[in-house]
Amino acid sequence: MTKLHSHGSSLPIPSFPHSLIAASPAPPFTITMGRMDRPALCVQCRARPVDPAWRPFCSRRCQVFDQARWGEGAYRVPGRPAAADDTDPSVTDGKQYQVPIIDGTIRATDLKQIKVGDEDVGLATYDPAFMNTAACRSRITYIDGDKGVLLYRGYPIEQLAEESTYLETAYLILFGELPDERQLAEWTHQITMHTMVHENIKKFMEGFTYDAHPMGVFVSTVAALSTFYTDGKQIFDDQARLRQIHRLIAKVPTIAAYAFRHSIGRPYVYPDNELSFTGNFLNMLFKMTELKYQPNPALERALDILFILHADHEQNCSTSAMRSIGSSHVDPFSALAGAAAALYGPLHGGANEAVLRMLKEIESTDNIPAFIKRVKAGDGRLMGFGHRVYKSYDPRAKIIKKAAYEVFEVTGKNPLLDIALELERIALEDEYFVTRKLYPNVDFYSGLIYQAMGFQMDMFPVLFAIARTVGWVAQWEEMLLDSEQKISRPRQIYTGAQPRDYVGMTERRK
Ligand SMILES: CC(C)(COP(=O)(O)OP(=O)(O)OC[C@H]1O[C@@H](n2cnc3c(N)ncnc32)[C@H](O)[C@@H]1OP(=O)(O)O)[C@@H](O)C(=O)NCCC(=O)NCCS
Repeated sequence: MTKLHSHGSSLPIPSFPHSLIAASPAPPFTITMGRMDRPALCVQCRARPVDPAWRPFCSRRCQVFDQARWGEGAYRVPGRPAAADDTDPSVTDGKQYQVPIIDGTIRATDLKQIKVGDEDVGLATYDPAFMNTAACRSRITYIDGDKGVLLYRGYPIEQLAEESTYLETAYLILFGELPDERQLAEWTHQITMHTMVHENIKKFMEGFTYDAHPMGVFVSTVAALSTFYTDGKQIFDDQARLRQIHRLIAKVPTIAAYAFRHSIGRPYVYPDNELSFTGNFLNMLFKMTELKYQPNPALERALDILFILHADHEQNCSTSAMRSIGSSHVDPFSALAGAAAALYGPLHGGANEAVLRMLKEIESTDNIPAFIKRVKAGDGRLMGFGHRVYKSYDPRAKIIKKAAYEVFEVTGKNPLLDIALELERIALEDEYFVTRKLYPNVDFYSGLIYQAMGFQMDMFPVLFAIARTVGWVAQWEEMLLDSEQKISRPRQIYTGAQPRDYVGMTERRK
């Protein structure tokens, strides 16, 4: 696809806030150990636990402790101030530790110097779901959730969606700079030359049942690619790595289209290398008996924009999966299948389907107030609203909303659009959503577009996976070449049984 226009855009380039950006070091941070989390007494012998976070057994090493009460926090009293006469020697008190702050973060391993007992291995952080932990340094994507900013390699998403193409954006994400004419031509050529899949892949896909979920088919087939391209294991060979990147970006639309055709019982369509990346994808999806498929330019462009918007989103669930699996040095096909599996989950790639189901359930704009009332009462959620990172309007949602109108001009309006618009209007004025900073996210309108274009709902995560493939491989490569990275291996807080002797069958449950 050619670039639509290249006039100078007037979209503002945002400034960075100060935290979590590579910057000059700040003065070190001093931690003073106090006794704010004074442990409660052991339920067994009433002695005080040695270290409530790591070994919630009392200093007398009671063999029994109350697992249920542990869950209730019986061994800890978070936030309770120390009593004046509290002289527990197991709690390090008043000591000061210097912890450097670099790039708005402290290194978790710097906390290891803080020990609360002689045998202690050092303080660790507990961060389920990685709510406040940076696991890598990355140059690829920047998000400022409060301001609604998304940048790929420094370029605002609004400008890329307006001026770039998916393949050009993919080049930018992977290589860090926009390509010149020659580089773009070479890149486009490489991707186009790799769109075919081995005939055995086709046969492999034919083995799925007629009602197999296209995302299940996609995940399995991407994993199977590793058995076809055994040089995928050469992950530290620059040329071999680039070859797999070409293959993955080029072949995922083919696999996705085959999965779609399989699910509707139509023959698979081979790639047409004369068409653009997105035009060829539409060809493989929708070609019937015509000799040459001509994609509708408006739909081709709309899908290309949707692919740009979904190309990367820093350390989300599936990208973290890609990095984590890849950190074991497995081939990229296997790692990408794992990332796609993470995307399959309804909390990640499945939300736009949930939006459509919700809009259908609401049925008419008259029913919106009652629906909103139910959501506010805690009965269900307003799908397509809210985001872990964005606490203002998701910048991608604004672009998608505009693209939706362009698609509907070709396909006719999706009848659910009026409900969506009214729902958004009411929610954005409602105190419940305003105070919680709940705004439309990328999924609020994308499902409406996909449905209008003729995709069934179970194809939505597959479309997402095509676009996100470049983000996954770029993040995977960045991880591999980062000398600070090792195999991913988080720590845990053990909450299981104390050491105990094996009990023979006849002795059990007496
Ligand atoms: C995306 C999402 C999972 C983020 O969750 P989170 O960052 O963990 O936010 P929380 O679940 O802690 O929610 C914070 C508050 O807002 C409320 N809230 C969040 N999203 C809501 C929604 N979509 N509808 C109604 N209330 C919502 C929560 O009930 C909570 O209220 P409370 O403080 O009174 O308990 C969440 O907003 C959501 O479920 N959205 C709908 C699903 C969706 O569109 N997902 C696609 C994301 S791209």
